[in-house]
Parts: sequence; structure tokens; C-alpha cells
Amino acid sequence: FQDIRIYNEPIPQYLPGSNEIKDLQKALKHYENNCEDIPIVINGKEIREGQETFQVMPHNKNHKLAKYYYADNATIEEAIRVSVQKQKEWDKTPLKKRIEIWERAADLMAKKYRAELLATTMLGQSKTVIQAEIDSGAELIDFTRMNAGYLKNLAMEQPLSPQPGITKNHLRIRGLEGFVAAITPFNFTAIGGNLAFTPALMGCSVLWKPSDTAMLSNWTVFKIMREAGVPDGVVNFVPAIGKNFGDAITNSPDLAGINFTGSTATFKTLWKLVGNKIDQYKNYPRLIGECGGKNFHFIHPSANVETAVAQTIRSAFEYGGQKCSACSRLYVPESLWESQFKGPLIKKTKNLKVGDVREVDSFYSAVIDENSFQRILGFINEAKEDPDCTILTGGNLSNLKGFFVEPTIVQVKNPNKRVITDEIFGPVLSVYVYKDSDLAKALDLVRSTTQYALTGSVFATDEPFLKQALNEFKDAAGNFYINDKSTGAVVGQQPFGGARQSGTNDKAGCPFYLMRFASLQAVKETF
Ligand code: ALA
Repeated sequence: FQDIRIYNEPIPQYLPGSNEIKDLQKALKHYENNCEDIPIVINGKEIREGQETFQVMPHNKNHKLAKYYYADNATIEEAIRVSVQKQKEWDKTPLKKRIEIWERAADLMAKKYRAELLATTMLGQSKTVIQAEIDSGAELIDFTRMNAGYLKNLAMEQPLSPQPGITKNHLRIRGLEGFVAAITPFNFTAIGGNLAFTPALMGCSVLWKPSDTAMLSNWTVFKIMREAGVPDGVVNFVPAIGKNFGDAITNSPDLAGINFTGSTATFKTLWKLVGNKIDQYKNYPRLIGECGGKNFHFIHPSANVETAVAQTIRSAFEYGGQKCSACSRLYVPESLWESQFKGPLIKKTKNLKVGDVREVDSFYSAVIDENSFQRILGFINEAKEDPDCTILTGGNLSNLKGFFVEPTIVQVKNPNKRVITDEIFGPVLSVYVYKDSDLAKALDLVRSTTQYALTGSVFATDEPFLKQALNEFKDAAGNFYINDKSTGAVVGQQPFGGARQSGTNDKAGCPFYLMRFASLQAVKETF
């Protein structure tokens, strides 16, 4: 292997009048005017049967964007049968050939279909242009191209010692025998692509159950991978009702792994199903999960306030707080709060525009669906009625046209209130003001308030404190940031994942992640 290209995809500017904006407008118009009919795909066969369902635009909920079909049990079982059969053949495909397919796919995404990927993500998941670009543009392309690059390295760099002239040893990369189920979320098109296709790159076959609310963008990814040369049957596109899908995959003795991003509760349900059926499997299924979070920004008295305010607003409110990494609890010292922090935080938050994804000045748009809207409403109403909570700004919601929630900041007197301990997954930031003299207690609070450990940030200029913070927060976050927001991990730069109840911390976006889908064979050759 030559030419190992491991670099991040540049992000276009999308300036008015630019070619990328013209392409995007055309794609938006197309998808707005055509309700796509998305099939189930098993072994390349497109199936349009089963319960019909529609994907709507969250910011315009009566607009049907796509029609799709829920696979019934017999269809899911057929997909499993095909996948298991296909895996044996696919695993024999030389790594070089697979890598070429993934590189071709990355080029197709970057040069031919970027506008389609962005438009389907904008309309279906209500992302603004820039949020769609850093997801279904740059991040998706990075996962696709860089994972192929990592596989080149893994294939070349063998960490084994030979006995010169006597033996030669090597590790053979094999996919997982059986099939992998990829169960993917709405909030990042790139996560869908990564979870479904990285196991395939490694020689696995996959049943991909995309999120109902990301169907169109995920279908677009599937079609691109097919055009790039991923053979029929290697990844099967299987929209389904979650419970049916979970039961069917865990009932199969051939289940080799579950690659999951979503709620902690669903991941635990899957884990229990697997545990209860453990005697039936040919292999121990690998369970890979990225789940909930309650991510923190901790402000030290020495922090640069302007930076801390700006980064907190971005982390809490970009994409309406629906990034798994979004900051949703903020700890500020008394010495900064009233005098410097509170005013700018509220003023800048009030200025954020919540609107249609097509309006260039929208900071974010609607939250994903009615369920999400009602859950957020529940948290806001609870805070409104609680004398220990003060709504500093926001708190209004409307689900008339779409699912719109104002950016909301809640100050809590009691740091154990649900609004600052539980995952909300919406544009709600909770603030606790700590006494400067109680710094140690405040650090302890950050660590112990939740069972999650996904992302967290500390803002400080005091060097000894920053050193201390690295130790204090060692176990509190899988991705830890110093003087930067808790969102925006870049593939290859900050591999992503959390521990504790946030997941198995397998770090998407680096070579180690790939190994979760490899079952290595050690080969010793004796001369
Ligand atoms: N990888 C995404 C981020 O860090 C979730 O924001």
C-alpha cells in the first residue's frame, strides 16, 4: 500500500452566489418537491412492502419528505440469512479492494453528492447549512476516507516479533463471523454511515436499521456506498420498528455484534436481550454503544469569560442541543456570575434566531419530533413550577408548524434537580453557581451529579488548576476539552466516545475503533 491519505476534508464556505450554494438550492428544491419512496434493500433487491410510514420535516411537520416501509419479522429474518451467507464471501475480498471502494465512496460524497447529503440532512433532521456540512459533508467523508486509511496502516503495521530465519508471524484481519446489526441515531448522518459501513470495511456483513427520523439522508448514504461498489448483501437497509428489530437480531445464533448509538435505556435493553440468550450464540456478540450524556462546562475563577460564554452558547444550542456532546450543565463561580457572566450569557442567548433551515440567519431549527418536543416541554414545565429553579431566558415552545423550542437557560439553587442531572437532549442549559471558597466541593459535584461520562470542558487560565483539572476529571468524560466547547470532535483528531452510562467508549474516528469489528487470526509460519 502506498499513499496513505489521512487528512480531514476541507469545509466549503457556502457563501451567497457560490457554486456550492447553487448546487444546494437545487438539491433542496428537488427533495422539497418530491416525496422519495425508500425501499427496504436486501441483497440488492428493493422491497416496497410492509407497514408504510412517512418521514416529515421537523420544522414543517405536515410536509412529507419520504415514504418508507417497516420490515416485518419474515423480512428481517431473510436479511439475516442473506447477510450470514454473504459475510463468508465478502470476508475473502482483499483489503486493497475494499479500501479502494471506500476511497471511491469518499470521493463521490465530496465531489458528486455533497449537495444531496446536505439537503437531505437539512430537511429531514432540521439542520442549518453549516451544521449539515460538518455532519453529512466533512464528518461523513472523514469517516469514510480515514477509516480506509487506518485499515491500510493496520494491515501493514504488525506488532509481532519474528524469529528471523525460523518463523514468521502475522495477524490476519477477519470480519466477525455472522452478521452485525447497526442501529443508528437521527442526530448525525455521519454516525449512521460510520456505524453501518465500518464493520463492512472490516469484512463483516450488516443489517442497518436507520433512525426513522433520518431515513432520507441515511438512504442517500446507502445509495452512494452502493454506487462506489459495496456489493449487494454486504450492508442491507432494513427500516423496522425498534422492538421487532431488537428481538429478531438477538434471536439469531449468528448475531456477531451490535453497533449502536442512541439512548442508554435502549442499549441496556439490547444488552439484556443478548445476556438472556447468551447460550445460543456461535460467537460472543460484540456490543458497541454510544449512549446518553449530561455534559458539563466548568468555569474556574481564572477563566477568560468572553471565550467561556461564547463556547458555552455554541455547545448548548447548536443543533438545538441535540448533539450527544452538547453542554447541558454549567458551573460558574460566584465571583464571575453576576458581575461578568450572567449578562452576556443571557443577552447572547436571547439573540439566537430559531427558524427554518433555509433562513441563513437561523442559529438552529426545530427539534426532531413530537416525542422530543414533549420531553423537553416536561423538563421546562417542571423547572417553571419549582421554586429552586429560575428560568433566566427562553421557556417558550410551539409545535404548531414544527417542533420549535426557544433556547432556555435555567438557574438551579439545588444542584441535584432533574434539570441539571438528567439528559434532556434539547436546547436547555442548566446553571449552578458555586461559591469560590467551595471549589473542591464544586469539582466533586461535577463528577458525581450524573452517571454519564461523555464530554466535558473546563475553562481556566490558571496553569496549576488546569493540571489539577486533568486529574480531577479523568473519569468524568470520554472527551475532555480545555478552554473549548464540549462539542465538535473531529474524526482522527479527537476520537469520540464516553464511558460509564454513556457507552462502551470505543472511540469512533481512530484506528482502535476498527478493531471492534475484526476477529484476528494469529498465523505462525515455520520454515
Ligand atoms: N462527534 C460529535 C461532537 O463531538 C457528536 O459533537
